Amino acid sequence: MALWIYEVTIEGALLISQEGEWLVIQNLLSKKLEHHLRILMKEFSFLLNLLFIYILSNMIVSTAVDTIAASQLLRDGETIVSTGGSFELGFFSPGSSTKRYLGIWYHKIASGTVVWVANRETPINNTFGVLMVEEPGILVLRDHTNHKIWSSNSSRRIQTPIAQLLDSGNLIVRDGNDSDSQNFLWQSFDFPCDTFLPGMKFGRNSTSGLDRYISSWKSTDDPSPGDFVYRLDPNGFPQFLLFKGSIVQFRSGPWNGLRFSGIPPLKANPFYKFWFVFNQEKMYYTYELLNTSVVSRMVLGQNGIFQRFTWINRTQGWKIYISVPLDNCDTYAFCGPYSSCNIDDSPVCACLKGFVPKFPNEWDKVDWSNGCVRKIPLECGKGDGFIKYSGIKLPDTRYSWFNVSMNLKECKMKCLNNCSCRAYANLDIRGGGSGCLLWFDDLIDIRQLTENGQDLYIRMAASELGKNLWPNEGNEVFHISIRNNKDKDI
Ligand SMILES: *[C@@H]1O[C@H](CO)[C@@H](O)[C@H](O)[C@H]1NC(C)=O
Ligand SMILES: *[C@@H]1O[C@H](CO)[C@@H](O)[C@H](O)[C@H]1NC(C)=O
Ligand SMILES: *[C@@H]1O[C@H](CO)[C@@H](O)[C@H](O)[C@H]1NC(C)=O
Ligand SMILES: *[C@@H]1O[C@H](CO)[C@@H](O)[C@H](O)[C@H]1NC(C)=O
Ligand SMILES: *[C@@H]1O[C@H](CO)[C@@H](O)[C@H](O)[C@H]1NC(C)=O
Ligand SMILES: *[C@@H]1O[C@H](CO)[C@@H](O)[C@H](O)[C@H]1NC(C)=O
Ligand SMILES: *[C@@H]1O[C@H](CO)[C@@H](O)[C@H](O)[C@H]1NC(C)=O
Ligand SMILES: *[C@@H]1O[C@H](CO)[C@@H](O)[C@H](O)[C@H]1NC(C)=O
Repeated sequence: MALWIYEVTIEGALLISQEGEWLVIQNLLSKKLEHHLRILMKEFSFLLNLLFIYILSNMIVSTAVDTIAASQLLRDGETIVSTGGSFELGFFSPGSSTKRYLGIWYHKIASGTVVWVANRETPINNTFGVLMVEEPGILVLRDHTNHKIWSSNSSRRIQTPIAQLLDSGNLIVRDGNDSDSQNFLWQSFDFPCDTFLPGMKFGRNSTSGLDRYISSWKSTDDPSPGDFVYRLDPNGFPQFLLFKGSIVQFRSGPWNGLRFSGIPPLKANPFYKFWFVFNQEKMYYTYELLNTSVVSRMVLGQNGIFQRFTWINRTQGWKIYISVPLDNCDTYAFCGPYSSCNIDDSPVCACLKGFVPKFPNEWDKVDWSNGCVRKIPLECGKGDGFIKYSGIKLPDTRYSWFNVSMNLKECKMKCLNNCSCRAYANLDIRGGGSGCLLWFDDLIDIRQLTENGQDLYIRMAASELGKNLWPNEGNEVFHISIRNNKDKDI
C-alpha cells in the first residue's frame, strides 16, 4: 500500500493511503524513520500539499460511510452520513456564528436542522478541528494544537473501537465486531441537547444514575445550554418538570397509562406512538414514528416552549404539532395551592370548594400565587370524607405516594387512615381505573381541562360535606365539577 505523508508531529505521523484513507501512526516511528520522513516532507511538501487538497476534495464528495474507525479521522469539511441517509455528522457554524461545532443534522430532509451538538460549550475558533476514535473506546475532538476540546467517555475498554452514525440520529461508539446495542460503549442519545428524537429514552436509569434531559440552546448562534431544562423528576410519582434556572415553569403531570395528566392533546395518532416505561430500574418517555415518511422531532426552544414538529415536504418546512406550556393555566402553580385554573373563566383562578383565598386582599388584586386555605380545618378521625373533582390535571406529585396494585376503594381507606393524606386518585385510568396515588402536601397546580381530564378525591372536614343532612353516613364522597359548582351529585 502506498502511503503519502501529510503531517509529522512529535506525537506521531498522519499518512494518507492511495485509497484516500487517513492513517494515524502514534508514537510508532523509530527515530530513523522519522528522520527520513522529515527529509521527504521538506523536499516534497509543496507537492504533498497539492495532493492533500486533491484527496480531501475527493473525500468530501465521495465519502458515503457511516463509520469512523480507530485509524481514521473526520476533519472539518468532511461528514459521514447514516446508512439510510437520514442524518449527517460533521462540523457546522450555527446561525451567524463563525465558531465551529461538531453536530448531527438531518440529511435527506431539512438539511441544516441540527439535532445534536458535541462541543456545546467549547466551540473551535477555526476550521482545523478533528474528530478521532481513540483507545480504549472514546470519541475525541481536537483542535489544531492537538488540544482535547471535547470527548465522550466510557467505563469499558475495547481493542477495536469504531464510531457509527445510526439512521436514528444516534452516534455510537462500539466494538468493531459487535453491533449489539446492549454493548455500546457510549451513545449520543444518552446526552441529548435540545432535541428529543424518536427512539431516545427521555428520562432516567436508576441503576446507572443516568439522567437524560433536554436543555435549550442559548441562542440561534450559540448551542450552549440556555435558560431552560426539561427533565423527569423522580420524586413521588415521576413527572416531567420544565425549569427556568431553578424555578419550575411547567409540569407534565403524572403518567396515567394513556398520557401525562397535564397534556390532554397527547393522543393516539397515525404519525407516532408513545409510551412511558416505569419500573425499579428505569423511568423514561419515548416515541417511535409509525411511518418514516412523516418525520417528527421534539425541541425545547430558547423561549422555554417544548414543541413537536413534523416535516412537511410540500412546503419544505417544519410544522408545529403540539406545544407545552400552552397558556397561563399551564404556568406552574399559577393559582397557588388549593385552587384551580380554568382558562375559559374570567378570572381564571378559583378556590376549590370549601376553600377561601389565603390573602383576600392579594387575591382581589389578581395576585393568586398564595392560593387558598380551608374554611373549616380538618379534624382527622372525626368523620372526614372526600369531594370528587372531575376533568382536571392532577396536582403536583412530588410529595405523593403510590401503589400500582391497589384499587380505588383500598386507596380511599389508605388515605382516610393517615391524617396527613390530603387527596387520592387512581394511578392508571385505563379499563375503569387501577392503582393508587396519595398526596401528602398542599395540592398545587390543578387545572380544569376541556378534554381528557381526571378524577381527584380531596379530603374535607365532615361539616364541609353536609354532614348535618346525613348524620349517620361518614366518609361520603361528593362529586363536584369545578366547571359548574351547582352540579353536586351525592
Ligand atoms: C476561542 O476563542 C476564545 C476567545 O478568543 C477563547 O476564549 C477560547 O479559548 C478559544 N477556544 C479555543 C478552542 O481555542
Ligand atoms: C460520562 O460523563 C458524564 C458527563 O460528564 C458523567 O455524568 C458520567 O458519569 C460519565 N460516565 C462515565 C462512565 O464516566
Ligand atoms: C470481538 O473481537 C474481540 C477481540 O478480537 C473478541 O475478544 C470478542 O469476543 C469479539 N466479539 C464478538 C462479539 O465477536
Ligand atoms: C441501566 O443501567 C444499568 C447499569 O449501568 C445497565 O446494566 C442497564 O442496561 C441500563 N438499562 C437501560 C434500560 O438502559
Ligand atoms: C407510509 O406513507 C406513505 C406515503 O403516505 C405510504 O405510501 C406508505 O404506504 C406508508 N407506509 C406504511 C407502512 O404505512
Ligand atoms: C418532496 O417534494 C419534492 C418536490 O418538492 C418531490 O420531488 C419529492 O418526491 C417529495 N418527497 C416525498 C418523500 O414525498
Ligand atoms: C400495594 O397494594 C397491594 C394490594 O393492596 C399490597 O399487597 C402491597 O403490599 C402494597 N404495596 C405497598 C408497597 O404498600
Ligand atoms: C402517613 O403517611 C406518611 C407519608 O407516607 C408517613 O410518613 C406516615 O408514617 C403515615 N402515618 C401513618 C399513621 O400511617
